[in-house]
Amino acid sequence: MRIKYRKSSAFHCNAGSRCSISVVLWSILACILMIHFIPLPHQKNEESRLRLCDRLCTREFEVVEEENFRLPPPRGKRNPRAVKRRGPGKQHTVIDEFLDESSDLRPFFFPDQKLAIWPARDGNDSKYFYPGRLWMDTDGNPIQAHGGAILFDERTETYYWYGENKDGPTYHAHPKGTARVDVIGVNCYSSKDLWTWKNEGVVLPGVESNFTHDLHRSNVLERPKVIYNDKTSNYVMWMHIDDANYTKASVGVAISDSPLGPFTYLRRIRPHSCDSRDMTIFKDDDQNAYLIYSSDDNSELHVSRLTDDYLDVTREMQRILIGQHREAPAVFKHKATYYMITSGCTGWAPNRAMAHAAESIMGPWETIGNPCIGGNRVFRVTTFFSQSAFVVPLRGHSGVFIFMADRWNPSELRDSRYVWLPLTVGGVADEPLEYNFGFPVWSKVSIFWHRRWRLPVG
Ligand code: GAL
Repeated sequence: MRIKYRKSSAFHCNAGSRCSISVVLWSILACILMIHFIPLPHQKNEESRLRLCDRLCTREFEVVEEENFRLPPPRGKRNPRAVKRRGPGKQHTVIDEFLDESSDLRPFFFPDQKLAIWPARDGNDSKYFYPGRLWMDTDGNPIQAHGGAILFDERTETYYWYGENKDGPTYHAHPKGTARVDVIGVNCYSSKDLWTWKNEGVVLPGVESNFTHDLHRSNVLERPKVIYNDKTSNYVMWMHIDDANYTKASVGVAISDSPLGPFTYLRRIRPHSCDSRDMTIFKDDDQNAYLIYSSDDNSELHVSRLTDDYLDVTREMQRILIGQHREAPAVFKHKATYYMITSGCTGWAPNRAMAHAAESIMGPWETIGNPCIGGNRVFRVTTFFSQSAFVVPLRGHSGVFIFMADRWNPSELRDSRYVWLPLTVGGVADEPLEYNFGFPVWSKVSIFWHRRWRLPVG
């Protein structure tokens, strides 16, 4: 009977007890909400410290620095290769000047060793990035990691920078062919602060003897990217594989169980039977990873989801930026929106970067304008005389990234430089192609020119 009474009191209570039950329920709900949404004092302090730090460092990064340089008047005698490149009657441009190894402006674009960034020599008190200057590793040698990318490895809490080792002679395989360096391999550097880099050696070497091997020194290995697969515990490297004439137009895959390699080369594929040249890999928050590559003779890009082990492409593929002729893709994500920086297709010569945005990585992607700010007009239309390689999220700073680019030196590719600059996402885009009830859809992506800059302390 008692049990019956209790049961019935629980389900058929009078008005007073019903009220008290709902008070209790509402209080519990309120407590849960408070725990979730009202941060504890120390959390609040930490969050506002980070927000303040983000605001300060964004403000510091967004200072617009001007550059003044004059194109020297055309000299009587020009470098014969530069004349040949342009044709005798053509107007001389600043890009010709940049590409001319005998130009008076050469030290401006490629400052000499005296100005090198030299962490081991300069000590840790500087930590300034100087875009375009030589950058020495901890052994005092110039960093060789071109067309590169950075992996932050959670297990070792270390940054790894992978890139092309181009430390060999530059030559032309054919009179009309592009300047090249034989495949030496993929270099890896490690760092805790993104400024001091230790050379960890060649983690995927070129092949000397087997002429038919994809990695034979006479071929092309460009733009290596490494991601970690949490399911298989493998580090997976994707790269552009080609022959000296760029007709193989494929991607290669290699794996290792350590970020330091050695990587084992698995195979080369033509994704979805399509040609693939400049490429990148993007690993999303949900662990899905994507291959993004220039295709159809660089006239468009393709986005393809990788298999769960990251060793192949799935059948899921979308064509994007069709007819826009973009290459050198660098993809990143901010607040559920995907962004990409690309270059135009002018070989080693610099050109205007473009930013693109999308709600889904599979597209549709929209072009939202040139992200380059500062320097001068020429700097802005040449991506500060460089070409996109990768975008690194700055850990602990929402909306702040490092734009990594290559300042190629086609007459001496081993002396190509790195242009690293702060990239921020926020504000209204310049060229919002689509309006949503009068509001631009996309945030602005900005890459700010700085002669010297450094990361926020800590
Ligand atoms: C660029 C490309 C580089 C390299 C170069 C060769 O367009 O981004 O990675 O392939 O052409 O000329």
